[in-house]
Amino acid sequence: MLKAIKLKNIAIFASGRGSNFAAILEQIQRGNIPAQIRCIISDYTHPPVFDIAGKAGISTHWVNRKQFDSRDDYTIFLLSLLEKYKVDLVILAGYLKLIPMPIVKRYKNSMINIHPALLPNFCGKGFYGIKVHEAVIESGVKITGVTVHFVDEHYDTGPIIIQEKVEVLPDDIPETLAKRVLKIEHKVYPEVVKAFCDGRLEVVDRKVLWRE
Ligand code: GRF
Repeated sequence: MLKAIKLKNIAIFASGRGSNFAAILEQIQRGNIPAQIRCIISDYTHPPVFDIAGKAGISTHWVNRKQFDSRDDYTIFLLSLLEKYKVDLVILAGYLKLIPMPIVKRYKNSMINIHPALLPNFCGKGFYGIKVHEAVIESGVKITGVTVHFVDEHYDTGPIIIQEKVEVLPDDIPETLAKRVLKIEHKVYPEVVKAFCDGRLEVVDRKVLWRE
């Protein structure tokens, strides 16, 4: 008899466009990732990512610190949402706010982020979106790329799961570079989500091992 596969429950935090969310959703819908996206959480009232989610029948939640009297109340509310959906994996996909520390701790090695450069370079506060690619071009490096990492208590410092390089061309402007990097993001993020959901990622100290 076929063994039933337990699907992993995913929550996605996203602030904007949602193209990485869409790339992951597509692979789930094709049956390539044993998971279901239970909800999208955004700090904006109606980001474009909510439209994609709406069409797929995925619950959307606008949660902003300003809606709460205190940071504790905000954190408790977020945690209760993740509990309600029995979330196994938290995915940050273009989310611009810091995740409260109790949530980072609760989801240690179960919360991932994507960064459009090769960490530990071009990262930290203020390095997001097109600013990353502007800095890359300004610096004159020949190689940039994509990094997916587990989230720890600082910006962009958690254990690195995968990196893939992208060449910086002499006539690149931030927008052309961003486009090529984004294409790679859409390939590697679903790969990492699949590996996580298949139970193939193991974290040993700061190293992430991919098991067969
Ligand atoms: C991506 O470039 C990602 O690397 C960064 O934010 C952007 C989000 O894009 N963290 P999208 O909303 O997934 O299209």
